[in-house]
Amino acid sequence: IGIIASCQVKDQNKSAGLEGISILDIPLEKPEMEEKINFFELVAKKATWNIKGESIEAWTYNGTVPGEEIRVIEGEWVEVNLKNELDEPVTIHWHGMVLPNVMDGVAGVTQNAIQPGESFTYQFKALEAGTYWYHSHQNGFEQVDRGLYGAFIVEPKEKSYDKDYVLMLDEWDVGENNRGMMNSMMGDGSTPGEMDSQMMYQTFTVNGKSAPNINPIDINAGEIVRLRIINAGYQKHVLYLNDHSYRIAAIDGKEVEGNSLTTDVFIIAPGERIDLEFTETGTMDWFIDSPNAVEEAKDILIPVNIAGVEEENYASYRDASQLKIMDISQQGKMDSIIDPNQEPDIEYTMDLSAGMGMMQGGMTYTINGETFPDTEPIQVKKGDLVKVRITNNSMLDHPMHLHGHYFQVISKNGLSLENPLVKDLINVEPHEQYEILFIADNPGDWLFHCHDLLHATGGMVTAVKYN
Ligand code: C2O
Ligand code: CU
Repeated sequence: IGIIASCQVKDQNKSAGLEGISILDIPLEKPEMEEKINFFELVAKKATWNIKGESIEAWTYNGTVPGEEIRVIEGEWVEVNLKNELDEPVTIHWHGMVLPNVMDGVAGVTQNAIQPGESFTYQFKALEAGTYWYHSHQNGFEQVDRGLYGAFIVEPKEKSYDKDYVLMLDEWDVGENNRGMMNSMMGDGSTPGEMDSQMMYQTFTVNGKSAPNINPIDINAGEIVRLRIINAGYQKHVLYLNDHSYRIAAIDGKEVEGNSLTTDVFIIAPGERIDLEFTETGTMDWFIDSPNAVEEAKDILIPVNIAGVEEENYASYRDASQLKIMDISQQGKMDSIIDPNQEPDIEYTMDLSAGMGMMQGGMTYTINGETFPDTEPIQVKKGDLVKVRITNNSMLDHPMHLHGHYFQVISKNGLSLENPLVKDLINVEPHEQYEILFIADNPGDWLFHCHDLLHATGGMVTAVKYN
């Protein structure tokens, strides 16, 4: 147990649970002589990590949580040699990257998991600037939870900002009231959601550190600062700034035409990335909160230090539930990449439910009543325009993530969106419905799953398969 069921390869030569999904062998482009290749070495290994004064055994890429940052410039090649020094198989998935299927890092779908002591080389071109991240896609629920993730930044050739900072959010089950993370999944199962991932953690971290040890953001007055916020955990978080204004600059790595905001707060869902830009001259602090968090985890302060400006007072506690939450689905661009009025070639209805079942913790998380690998795949041909209508019939959020493609969000709860967002993940809240469109332009077998990886492990996974 504890697997993105299907995505674990027990026998190196078999793709468990994915009978019928063949590993495609599409010819790979190779770097030309004059193109720049950035080389990285990532070693998956255990490391002692300190959170809230408690030493835990983390699973890491290169000994830290998050793992070593990968940063390149758009158009350049990335070559990553992954060496596995853990006792169990791993992979790396490049979340949000559009790349050849064989580089997607999904054990059992696009490659066999990398066994202990073995290595694997990923090579692909970083086509578009943006905020991405990487994480293991083998036994994902546990491996990502224990720290196998890192930031992947593709810088634009020309920057709209002076400085950028990455904030990777996660949550841990450490500290006085720890519930024993792996045990909490095995709760008595009497109420659906009782042992859901929304309830399992007490401590929030930003770049692997909990308050008050979160590294401050050091800026100079007047600089344009870009914050790249990546949610690597399984809970959504509310971010807010005390009456300071900022602009949402990009969502899931794509630039948007976001308005300047002050009092509104926004939510970042598991797997999602939101980039903000701001210019500041006075005192400020950021807060992170979580609508569903246990009390101990609330209100994490991210200090912002401005050179030469004395910190006056740490802004006082503010209850995020009192603030207006901005709907990021309204923050896209006017010009859509796909004409939403075009007749789709393929339509797929995706009804999401959660309920009691035979899976671990007594919960199953289903797509059209089935758990992976019994869910019906989205069958496409290259060039198809695909429309997916996602409806959440459960009481839990489902951040649904599509590999290898971007999609355009065309409607929410039956109303078409004027500024369609282009994303790789859409957080579908209870009883919400979204329609998305994508062009099937990247052959292979690609997962489409809930990025609350507990839900994915419990079955909420399907695949896009090219015929
Ligand atoms: Cu970031 Cu299949 O996941
Ligand atoms: Cu889910």
